[in-house]
Amino acid sequence: MTCPAVICTAEDTLATAARTMQTAQTGSVVVTDDDKVAGILTERDLLRAVAAGGDPASELVRRWMTARPDVLEPDERVDRAWESLTSHRYRHLPVVEDGRCVGVVSLRDLVGVARIRPAAETSADVPAGLEGVVVAETTIGDVRGREGFFHYRQYSAVELAASRSIEDVWHLLFRGQLPDAAALAAFGDELGGLRCLPVALAALLPRLASTGAPLDVLRTAVSFLGAELGWQPTHDIGAQELADDAMQLCAVVPTVLAAAHRLRCGLDPVAPRSDLGFAANYLSMLTGSEPDERHARALEQYMMLTIDHGFNASTFTARVVTSTGADLGAAVVAAIGALSGPLHGGAPSRALDMLDAIGTPDRTEAYIRRAVEHGDRIMGFGHRVYKTEDPRSLFLREVAEGLGGPLVEFARLVERTTVDVLAELKPGRELYANVEFYAGVVMHTCGIPREMFTPTFAVGRTIGWCTHVMEQASCNRLIRPAARYVGPPPPAPVPPLTSLP
Ligand SMILES: CC(C)(COP(=O)(O)OP(=O)(O)OC[C@H]1O[C@@H](n2cnc3c(N)ncnc32)[C@H](O)[C@@H]1OP(=O)(O)O)[C@@H](O)C(=O)NCCC(=O)NCCS
Repeated sequence: MTCPAVICTAEDTLATAARTMQTAQTGSVVVTDDDKVAGILTERDLLRAVAAGGDPASELVRRWMTARPDVLEPDERVDRAWESLTSHRYRHLPVVEDGRCVGVVSLRDLVGVARIRPAAETSADVPAGLEGVVVAETTIGDVRGREGFFHYRQYSAVELAASRSIEDVWHLLFRGQLPDAAALAAFGDELGGLRCLPVALAALLPRLASTGAPLDVLRTAVSFLGAELGWQPTHDIGAQELADDAMQLCAVVPTVLAAAHRLRCGLDPVAPRSDLGFAANYLSMLTGSEPDERHARALEQYMMLTIDHGFNASTFTARVVTSTGADLGAAVVAAIGALSGPLHGGAPSRALDMLDAIGTPDRTEAYIRRAVEHGDRIMGFGHRVYKTEDPRSLFLREVAEGLGGPLVEFARLVERTTVDVLAELKPGRELYANVEFYAGVVMHTCGIPREMFTPTFAVGRTIGWCTHVMEQASCNRLIRPAARYVGPPPPAPVPPLTSLP
């Protein structure tokens, strides 16, 4: 508060009161009568008086003041004072102790405090990690964690993965509806023509592949591609131009990754084939042989199940970057960075590493128990949204079982044991296998090398990212949240520069 209060009497003229305010540089005077608060006169009251034609030299304060104003006590909390001022639209309130005016609290005083502790009205607390916070509206799809259900547009994602192709789902995401036969054929033709690497990128890849891991190569390649093809800021282009950029990017990502992998292994890249579906073509470019149909279908189903999944970390990242009006390449490069972390897309290879480390079925329980007791995360288990079994994991387990083999049986045993141990040691957390656990098993069985697991995740997910970039750009508002400052209270005096010894 400001103290002592600047005061006048009810019998003073407005001119006297105004001079008092001006001298003290305050916006109000407390009107006292024998030290008791009789009223308050503010700048607003002076304006009212002048606007009504009153002569400040003769008009008395008594006529224009607010008599018997609300008052505060000196030990009132700042947020209560704020509440009193803002709810009644006051700018000043006298502070009274034992019936005597000891000061005035003004909005200006409280704004000064707000520099140290922001008023509650200006922010909303959200849970750490933004868990459960709705940050946008979307028509792309949703994840219902408690029900173990997720969908793309209006269709169950699992049903789509069971009965459709990835091109169908891609069309659904990009164009808003499932294609009929003619639309699908046209879509396939369009994609087939976009799979080749631009010449400059093809020339750069050997150098990139010799130094970086495949996901790092992809990040740099996408950045290069955007510059090479002249992608413009989403802020400056229309929906069709952005959709064209997105089609090209999604079509070329598998080619980049397969070539990067082969170059790393000292092999020549394999040219894309337009006669194959998206997943089969990727397998063909990766392995250099005719893709096994069952493997191509299993991989396609994995990609369909992971093409999009609500506002996961990488998708949100892509939307944040798009919200600044940046170009498609910038948004996808950022998303790839987010995907690379082990808590997001980096888990499937680590889940398979764990199966290797366990080694044999009889060692499973002791291994998992020791890891959890040690505070380690079991890769491929737990999920931010699913508090029941992850529907993607359930479906991929079926896919893996369809492919068969000893690894699948072992994975089944490890899954059951891990769920039981986690239920015992982490009761109430509802931890089940997530998509990454069987993703590693399926990809391994399909002949995909371990270092290509997360990059293969990115092959399908790029389609989801691009869909979100297009949606964000179509109804954009800059995403700019706030943080709660919890450091030493400001403003601390800046210490003088000490001279060097
Ligand atoms: C996916 C994941 C990051 C979600 O994390 P989250 O929603 O922030 O959950 P929290 O980190 O708050 O974990 C809640 C509790 O469950 C435990 N928990 C979560 N996942 C666990 C796991 N995989 N292994 C062991 N404990 C786990 C945490 O230790 C924590 O226990 P506490 O209450 O005793 O501290 C987390 O489950 C995880 O790290 N999983 C392993 C990595 C993985 O598989 N990622 C791929 C996701 S698709």
